[in-house]
Amino acid sequence: MINTLLGLTVDTETMRPHLAGTTGGLSGPAIRPVAVRCVYQVYAAMRAGAVRQVPILGMGGITSGRDALEFVLAGASGVALGTVLFNDPGAPLRVLDELESALAARDFTSLQQAIGRAHPTN
Ligand SMILES: Cc1cc2nc3c(=O)[nH]c(=O)nc-3n(C[C@H](O)[C@H](O)[C@H](O)COP(=O)(O)O)c2cc1C
Repeated sequence: MINTLLGLTVDTETMRPHLAGTTGGLSGPAIRPVAVRCVYQVYAAMRAGAVRQVPILGMGGITSGRDALEFVLAGASGVALGTVLFNDPGAPLRVLDELESALAARDFTSLQQAIGRAHPTN
């Protein structure tokens, strides 16, 4: 979770949709709170036994280790980067470094300890 969110913008000069396909996928930092919310809710549903437990891969607007940590605390076992790579191809290594520092700064000795920590039962 998650894929892009469907968006649409209108060209105010032509007064028609900007995109040839009318709608298009919105990605990047703007969608991160929606993605984190999805991870949080699905993790909670798994913990409640409502759905089968599988690892969650969190994605959507991650540009820093802090962003990645947010997904992990919400319940993701791993994260992925997309849009940030267009501007910063080195982002995966940077984000990994930042995530390791962010975990250590919070006295986590493993990623595992941080997974789902945002939930009241953890
Ligand atoms: C140019 C582009 C192409 C994408 N193509 C696919 C795709 O083929 N299949 C898919 O499941 N998601 C695709 N996505 C969605 C991404 O995998 C990702 O879920 C989404 O962009 C949110 O992450 P981000 O904000 O880090 O980019 C694409 C996203 C972008 C920006």
